[in-house]
Amino acid sequence: MSKVTPSPDALDPDKIKSHLRTKRIGQKVVVYNSTASTNDVAAQYAKNKNNDGLVVLAEEQVQGRGRSGNKWVAGFADSVICSILLTDCAINAELLSLTIAVATAEAIGKCTKAEAKIKWPNDIILNNKKVAGILVESKKANKHIAYVIGIGINCHQSKLDFPAELRKTATSIDIETGGGIDRISLIKRLLTSIDNWLDIAEQNKEEIIEHWQRLSTQLGQRVALIYNKKKFAGNCIGIDPENGLVLQLDTGGIRMFRAAQTTIAKE
Ligand code: BTN
Repeated sequence: MSKVTPSPDALDPDKIKSHLRTKRIGQKVVVYNSTASTNDVAAQYAKNKNNDGLVVLAEEQVQGRGRSGNKWVAGFADSVICSILLTDCAINAELLSLTIAVATAEAIGKCTKAEAKIKWPNDIILNNKKVAGILVESKKANKHIAYVIGIGINCHQSKLDFPAELRKTATSIDIETGGGIDRISLIKRLLTSIDNWLDIAEQNKEEIIEHWQRLSTQLGQRVALIYNKKKFAGNCIGIDPENGLVLQLDTGGIRMFRAAQTTIAKE
């Protein structure tokens, strides 16, 4: 019988919760070896408001989802696959999405000592390549709206682990840093950053905007996007916490685009 050696940073809820100094996120942590999608698991807990801040993690997903109907694929124990349930969210979906991007970039930046940037709406970029993606989904649960924040961070993949068509645009933390990222430390940092930035977002959304702008790869750049099946292009001149990305359109005028209805396009 062959013996499978557990990865040195195998997900362990006790290690993740140990010395985790968060107020809201990660009081309950559930870990799966394999599941369909951690976002689906988290959504099952949404009816009970006491589950606010619940974290669902998995070593592997067999039906991982990305934005715009894409699949999110990662090998066993190669990634951080994480979903966080918010049953009691005081901020709107647009601001929530910006907040999570800022928090995820901060966590990756602190753990890698590299500069992690944000490509709106929900990609985190290291050295011009995508290292993480975020998928925020909402669900009506009893009388409240719950949000499930899904985050996938590529950690231990080598270049050849990515499908050929993604090798030019995708990366992992190990590729960019030479290896050795510990997923437990990264998860603790991620939960701490999210806890902290959600708190900030509720009090002072300007601070989120300021940080987002500092980390944006698109601010001041040309952006092409698809919104409600129509293509738009222009110069990115800002972000609005209610209405999304602000473009000075090539065709004249200024227009805002909400994340949920928009995908970034190639020119
Ligand atoms: C994207 O970049 O398209 C978003 C990717 C989001 C992937 C994460 S992994 C954890 C959670 N569960 C899912 O099925 N998707 C999200």
